[in-house]
Amino acid sequence: MTYNFIIKGDICYSKNKDELITGKDKYLVCEDGYSRGVYDKIPESYKDFKLYDYSGKLILPGLIDLHVHAPQYTFRGMGMDLELLDWLNTYTFPEESKYKDLSYASRAYERFVEDLKYSSTTRACVFASLHVDSTILLMNLLEKSGLISYVGKVNMDRNAIEDLEEDDAKESLSATRAWLDSIKDTYKRTFPIITPRFTPSCSDELMEGLGGMVEEYCLPVQSHLSENPGEIEWVKELCPWAKCYGDSYDRYKLFGSLTKTIMAHCVWSDEREQRLLKDRGVFIAHCPNSNLNLASGIAPIRKYLDQGQNIGLGSDIAAGSHLSIFRQVSDAIQVSKMYWRYIDQRCKPLSIEEGFYLATLGGGKFFGKVGSLDKGYEFDALVIDDADYKNENLSIEERLERTIYMSEPRHVRHKWVSGKEIF
Ligand code: GUN
Ligand code: FE
Repeated sequence: MTYNFIIKGDICYSKNKDELITGKDKYLVCEDGYSRGVYDKIPESYKDFKLYDYSGKLILPGLIDLHVHAPQYTFRGMGMDLELLDWLNTYTFPEESKYKDLSYASRAYERFVEDLKYSSTTRACVFASLHVDSTILLMNLLEKSGLISYVGKVNMDRNAIEDLEEDDAKESLSATRAWLDSIKDTYKRTFPIITPRFTPSCSDELMEGLGGMVEEYCLPVQSHLSENPGEIEWVKELCPWAKCYGDSYDRYKLFGSLTKTIMAHCVWSDEREQRLLKDRGVFIAHCPNSNLNLASGIAPIRKYLDQGQNIGLGSDIAAGSHLSIFRQVSDAIQVSKMYWRYIDQRCKPLSIEEGFYLATLGGGKFFGKVGSLDKGYEFDALVIDDADYKNENLSIEERLERTIYMSEPRHVRHKWVSGKEIF
């Protein structure tokens, strides 16, 4: 399949975390799924490419969701008066146990993938549940959607509930192997990722086995880190040898030392953990809406940006109640204002430019050359019809700001991922 075409419209993307590149009535060229750049006029060498004219509409890079739980889509907005550990036991684990039933999983995952497909998200890193068959079903649906994703069969062999727990490390590891073997060479746009739920859910033996599989299969890793004070105290009891929570993964090579790794939250990471995150190049998935809902706290993103950490945004459905990454951008900016106002006046609030950068280039880096419309990047693009909230006098920067705060899924009119038209 060749993806060669040109789209015309009002372009906006991040040059870096502090600067936007904008242009009115520009031509954006896609060749073989890659951007060949933004032009004032169609270059001679591309004059035979089909032109799609979206004049007056915004053209943005696709947004990246670095952390989302597919089986939790069904109970968004419930249990929001609880903190993490009670919320997991009361709502999350019982709901995820239902994905043993393939017909339930099929109905629920179809809704999730349909909504993700028509959202502003082009790529996502997804937690499934511990069930192999329904994880494969989810991967089939995501592949068909045309989106690009990493999907993890979740590992958990301790401290859950009877209906949602693997008997022991051996069972969890052999299910993981069965999953990996049965999807081998099946997909073009859907990739496996090793997914220990979090340290309290995984015995040392399981962690060790998963580290071995990361090495054997050369797979990336995703998990949770330093989200909630009660969780962190529990990890200290479970792993008294760990120098910090992150060390409980690092000891088993599940923290970026072998392959790229995403850790969601990092709200409470101490200085040692911050250094380890930076040394290992771990991607921090900042999930502000989730952190608000479960009263987890405010991650010090200004500090992490100054440290040069890898950071993107995550919806963290269903601790986060919104799939929209635009919503995560506005929440990230808002919580950074509260951090500055109440906690540390040296940490100035995130700007619109920085928030948008996190949602595009920041998270996109996990996927490679992704998150920009610039020449050489994979062609992930959105056409946003902002007629509902734009007026003649607004600059493109102002239209982006309004889109971040005000757009709804219906404003996303077209979407391409790696050159493929999604709708
Ligand atoms: N920590 C372990 N599991 C989960 C989960 O499902 N959601 C969130 N937010 N944190 C977790
Ligand atoms: Fe999560």
